[in-house]
Amino acid sequence: MTTFKNLLVEIEEFIALITINRPEKLNALNRQTLEELQQFFDQVEEDEQVKGILITGAGGKAFVAGADLQEIQQLNAEAAIAFARFGQRLFSRIEQFPKPVVALVNGYALGGGCELAMSCHFRLVSETAKFGQPEINLGIIPGYGGTQRLPRLVGKGRALEIMLTGDMIDAQEALRIGLVNRVLPSDELIAAGRKILKKIAAKGAVAVRAILETVNLGLEQPLEQAMETEALQFGRVCNTEDKTEGIQAFFEKRPPQFKGR
Ligand code: COA
Repeated sequence: MTTFKNLLVEIEEFIALITINRPEKLNALNRQTLEELQQFFDQVEEDEQVKGILITGAGGKAFVAGADLQEIQQLNAEAAIAFARFGQRLFSRIEQFPKPVVALVNGYALGGGCELAMSCHFRLVSETAKFGQPEINLGIIPGYGGTQRLPRLVGKGRALEIMLTGDMIDAQEALRIGLVNRVLPSDELIAAGRKILKKIAAKGAVAVRAILETVNLGLEQPLEQAMETEALQFGRVCNTEDKTEGIQAFFEKRPPQFKGR
């Protein structure tokens, strides 16, 4: 694994923990950090030693306080479109990644930080987490998928209130509106993330991938087409050794030993 400037990567028991490491800038996402994230995902996609990914922020104050405002300050319209497309592509890659990716939000998740957390498959957060899309306060709008993922997660009315006021919401409010899955004490966050990803890592990898793909793809399709997507994926998982093993283990009243094929 490459050594990165702005990311710390620890791989333990098939789970990779990535820490975005620019605490002096509250882990703001500059171009280099986004490129390093892209490189990381390229490297682990086929790596059998990595079955799940946790993303958190260094320093205890922020998950990610946004895209880097020093970089945004320099953008003209043309460069801004390219800037948005670059971040959007990376975040869509994370959303469509074939292994589970979980955000561990341990402080501010603002702007690009909220967008990064939303592109992960789900979110575990500390009691101190704060979410927001404050771009409006700067005269701009979210550009890394926030205008689309936030309404899909919490509904149009709540998303518009968050984006139009620019106000932050706390962890409990984020839980109440369905933006996050669980709120935990800060010092339990990483252990909770590891525990849940280890549980998923013990399942059949083909079925894990099929659930991620079917939900992601199906949500963007009309219902009838989404049902067909599900049927095809159901066919795919019924043609695996894992299916034979899973059902055999059920009848033999023992835990299954999945092989991911
Ligand atoms: N881009 C670049 N630098 C950022 C940043 C960002 N998105 N967010 C914070 N920083 C930098 C600050 O400029 C400051 O740097 P400095 O020490 O060189 O002055 C450092 O991180 C610490 O931030 P600071 O504002 O001093 O901390 P705070 O505790 O007073 O406030 C926040 C914390 C998160 C409320 C505040 O930093 C903030 O509003 N950040 C911007 C959030 C935002 O608008 N994000 C969307 C961007 S599109």
